[in-house]
Order: sequence, then C-alpha cells, then structure tokens
Amino acid sequence: MYFIIRPILFRMDPEKAHEWTLQVLNSVWGRSFAKLHKVPRHSRLHRLYWGIHFRNPLGLAAGMDKNAYLLPLWDMLGFGFVEIGTVTPRPQEGNPKPRLFRLPLDKALINRLGFNNDGAAQIAHRLEYKPDGLVVGVNIGKNKDTPLDKAVNDYLACLMRFYDLADYFTINVSSPNTPDLRLLEHPFPLKQLLEALQNAVSKQKRWKPIFIKISPDISMPKLHEIIAVAKQAQIAGIVATNTTTSRENLKTPTTILEKIGEGGLSGAPLFAKSNSIISEIDKANIPVIGVGGIFSGQDAVEKIQAGAALIQIYTGLIYRGPSLIREILKAPLPHKYLANY
Ligand SMILES: Cc1cc2nc3c(=O)[nH]c(=O)nc-3n(C[C@H](O)[C@H](O)[C@H](O)COP(=O)(O)O)c2cc1C
Repeated sequence: MYFIIRPILFRMDPEKAHEWTLQVLNSVWGRSFAKLHKVPRHSRLHRLYWGIHFRNPLGLAAGMDKNAYLLPLWDMLGFGFVEIGTVTPRPQEGNPKPRLFRLPLDKALINRLGFNNDGAAQIAHRLEYKPDGLVVGVNIGKNKDTPLDKAVNDYLACLMRFYDLADYFTINVSSPNTPDLRLLEHPFPLKQLLEALQNAVSKQKRWKPIFIKISPDISMPKLHEIIAVAKQAQIAGIVATNTTTSRENLKTPTTILEKIGEGGLSGAPLFAKSNSIISEIDKANIPVIGVGGIFSGQDAVEKIQAGAALIQIYTGLIYRGPSLIREILKAPLPHKYLANY
C-alpha cells in the first residue's frame, strides 16, 4: 500500500508530507487502515527491563510525534514503545522553514527543526489518555532562549511535569539544531545535569528510569568520558544515537548538500556509526536503546547484536512505511540479557 502513496508523498514538501500523513493516519480512514495492519504479538517479543513490560523491543524514535498527537495509532501499528518529544518547558516554533529535506540517493533525511513543540503543559494533557500497554517515554530538552547555565531548570521542569505520566525519560543533550546544546555532553555540565535529575527522581515515590541521548559525532575518548559520568550518576541507560552533522561518504551531490545547509542527518548512513557506538557502550555494561539507520528486519537484528536491548526507528519508517514494523517484528530479534535489570 505504502509503495503506491510514497511517490505522491515524496513529491510534496517533506514537512508538509509529514504533517499531512499524520493527519490522514489520525482520521477514521487512517485508524481503519491501522486496524488492518496485523503485527506479530508473540510472547517471544516481550521484554522486561527497568521494571517496565515492553510488549516488543521496537520503539518509535523521538521527533516523529513530538506532541503526542497519535499515541493510539502507534499502538495499533504495533510499536512496543513510543518516545515523544523533544518537549521543552514552553512551546516554541522551531527554526524557519524549509527545515526538513530528503536525500533519496542515501536513504537519509536532513532536519533542522529546532525543537518545534507545543510545550510541556499541553503535551502532558495528551499523555493522560495514553493507550494501555503502550510504553511511553518523554524526551526532554531546553528552550532555545534558555541560557546554557540555566538549562538544568528546563530539564527539571519537564521531568516534574511528566513524572507521573511517563514510563521513562530521555535527556536530549545531542540535537545539533539547538545552539550549544551539545556542550551539555561535556563531562562537567553533564554530571551536574544528571545529578540534579537523579536527585529529583530520588525524592519521588516511584523510581523512573532516565536515559541520555548522545550524538554520533563524538570521539571515542569523549564517549568514554560520557560513559564514566553515566555510570557515576547511575542512569538507566543511553539512547544511541541522535542525528549526525557529518556529510561524509554520501551519494547526494555536494551542490545539493550545500544548498540544503545545516542540520542533522538521519537514516542509512548512520547505521554503522551508531552500531559502533552502541558496541562500545555495551562493553561498559550500560543498557542501550539503539537507533540510527534501521531499514529492515536484518538491520534490527544487527542493532541488537551490536548491543542494544531495545531499538527505535524514524527515517526507515518514512522510506519504507508501516510494513517495516511488521518486518522487524517478524525477524529473529535476539533477546538481550541485561545484568541487574
Ligand atoms: C525530522 C526528525 C526530527 C527529529 N527530532 C528529534 C527530536 O526532537 N529529539 C530527538 O532526540 N531526536 C530527534 N530526531 C532523531 C531521531 O530520534 C533518531 O535519533 C535519528 O533520526 C536516527 O534514527 P533514524 O536513522 O532511524 O532516523 C529527529 C529525527 C528526524 C529525522
């Protein structure tokens, strides 16, 4: 079905196509289609990590449903979990358009959306109606105009607003589209941020897991610094990885890349890079949610073999449509054993 619609969608402006698709999927037609989309629901797919029951290890990556508009739909399409956001405390419009581009030759996207979202208060209301059995994580960030030395307050505000509604939290310190955000990946600010958040969690009645989402553009020594901080702060795990600012080894001509300009690149070119980062984190015994460039069931298997306990998709869904979900859930996904979880 998607192979018929895709050429039409790919002729539209990418962001308009995205909004239009979400609207259609949210209509009566979309919901009827989603009901017809049969996905495997075997017990072999169940996972129990951090005290959370995932009905399968496949999640929707952050950014696809930033505002939590379509939770029942993702549930019907078969995802085991959905990461909404990135959510900031106050609503913001994001960067000027155009800000989303397709690179079909590379099976990739470039985006510089810049955390466009409805803000924590409005989005939190939508989470009150989340479908039973669907695990929902909230990916949180800072507003563009919040100075970096006050960023902790933004993350804390989001954490507290969603604390009773979310199953887990992801701290986004790796988007390339919010100026200087990636400076929060440096050991000292990261340590301060994680300690403040863990301290807030320790005061709550129920423990909820916190993950950090990291960039694929970090060097190995830098990755080891992040791992050390993550261990010290006893966070639940790492989401690896966000989009890359690199434009290396692409088939898309340089003239087109130059015309597109800045932004984070996602999709197939990210696959190997994110897998090597995942392996390195896994060697340090930190649980990983693996994301980046999954386009097939085999890719999903390899992402778990690289060390991921759970996996997420975004760009693959744009290129392949919902049949990718079924293909992944039918694949022989290994069950990753996590010590202490
Ligand atoms: C259009 C777009 C918007 C995104 N927005 C966010 C976001 O708000 N927060 C975030 O943590 N990641 C965001 N991401 C990154 C994805 O969650 C994911 O980490 C990345 O795209 C790599 O996975 P993929 O190759 O399967 O797309 C976005 C990606 C795309 C393509």
